[in-house]
Amino acid sequence: MRILFGLALALIAGLPAPAGAGDPIRIGVVLPFSGVYAALGGDITDGMMLAFETFGDTVAGRRIELIREDSEVKPSVGLTKTKKLVYQDQVDLLVGPVASNVAGAMRDFVHNAEIPLIVPNAGNNLLTGERCSPWVIRTSFSNDQINRGMGGWLFDKGYRSLYLLAADYAAGHQMMAAVKRSFTAAGGAIVGEEYPPLRETKDFAPYLAKIKAAKPDAMYVFFAGGPAIQFVKQVHDFGLKKEIALTGAGWLTSPLFLPAEGAAAVGFTGALNYVPSIDSDENRQFQNAFQEKHGRVGSEFTVQGYDTARLIVEALEITGGATDDKAALVAAMHQVSFTGPRGPLRIDPATNNVIQDIYVFETRQVGYAVKQVVIDKMEAVQDPPNGCRMEVGRG
Ligand code: BEZ
Repeated sequence: MRILFGLALALIAGLPAPAGAGDPIRIGVVLPFSGVYAALGGDITDGMMLAFETFGDTVAGRRIELIREDSEVKPSVGLTKTKKLVYQDQVDLLVGPVASNVAGAMRDFVHNAEIPLIVPNAGNNLLTGERCSPWVIRTSFSNDQINRGMGGWLFDKGYRSLYLLAADYAAGHQMMAAVKRSFTAAGGAIVGEEYPPLRETKDFAPYLAKIKAAKPDAMYVFFAGGPAIQFVKQVHDFGLKKEIALTGAGWLTSPLFLPAEGAAAVGFTGALNYVPSIDSDENRQFQNAFQEKHGRVGSEFTVQGYDTARLIVEALEITGGATDDKAALVAAMHQVSFTGPRGPLRIDPATNNVIQDIYVFETRQVGYAVKQVVIDKMEAVQDPPNGCRMEVGRG
C-alpha cells in the first residue's frame, strides 16, 4: 500500500518512482544512429555491449537495460530524445552524445533534472569547464585536452607555420583554438584558417587550393565520420602531402574510417586518447575480444563506449546497485579508476573530465595494413578547471 502510495505521488509529481531491488537499471543512450556521425554512435554502442558482457550486466540482482535514441547529430533532436528518456522512460542515468553541439543543447536540461549524464565522446570544453555540472561526467576527452599539446609538439619538431581547417561547429572551433594557442605561444604562426560546414561540405577542393597557395609547413585539421574519409582521399589525390605535412586531431584516420581511406591515410600525424597499436595486455585483451565478436579493429570510439560501461558497472557495484541517490552514484564514479585499453584513467572530481594519456601517432603502411603507430605519449593529461565551479544547483 505504501509503495503504491509512493508510486502515485511520484507519478503526480512527474518524478521517477524509487527503484526497487529487482527493477532493471535503465540507461538512456542518446547517440547518432543516423547522419554524419552514425558510425561513431554504432561503435560506442558496440563497445558498451562488450563491456557489459565482460564486466557484468547485472548488479545486485538488477539487470542493466539500454534504451537507445537517435540524436541524428541535431541539437534539438538530442534534447527532445533526452527529455523523452527521462520523463517517459524514467531512466536512471544517461549516456551520450557524440557531437559537441548536441552536448551543448543537452547540458542545461540534464543539470536541472539532476540526472547523471556520462559523455562517451562529445568533447565540448564548456561541459567540464565554464558550464560544468555535478551531473555531467566525461569519459572521452575535452576538445582542448586532445589538441593543446600538439602546438608545442609540432613546433619542437620544426614546424613554424600552420594552416587550420576544421568542421564549422563547436568542436572544430575549440580544437583549432587549442592548437593555435599553444603553437603561437611556442613561436609559430597561423597563416590561415577555414571552417567548412559540417554536413554540407562534399568537396574540399576550394579549401585545398587555398592551403596550397598559403604554403604552410603543415595543415592541422579536424574532421570525423564521412567528411574525414572524403578529406583524406582528396588531399591524397591533390598530391598535397608531398609539399605540406598533414597533421591534426587524430580522428581523421580512425580505424573506423581506415578501411575506406586505405593508403590515402598514410603520412598523417595526429593526437588521440587511443590507438589500437598501444602495447599493453589490457589493450590486447580488448582487441582480441572485440575482433573475435565483430571481425574488425576496435576504434577509439569503441574504447570510449567500453570504458563508459565499465565505469558505470564499477560505480554501481560501489552503491550496491542503488540508483535513487544520484549524488552517491556520481561520488562512486569518482572512486573508480582502472587501466583499460587506452591506459590508466580516472575522473577528475574538480571538472568531471577524464584524466588520461594522449598519444601522438603516425599513420603508416605496415606490411599490407595501414596502422596508427605510436611515436610519442603525453602522460596523465588533466584539464585545468577552465572556469568550472562544481556546485550543485548553480544553474
Ligand atoms: C565532437 O563533436 O565533440 C566530436 C565529434 C567527433 C569526434 C570528436 C569530437
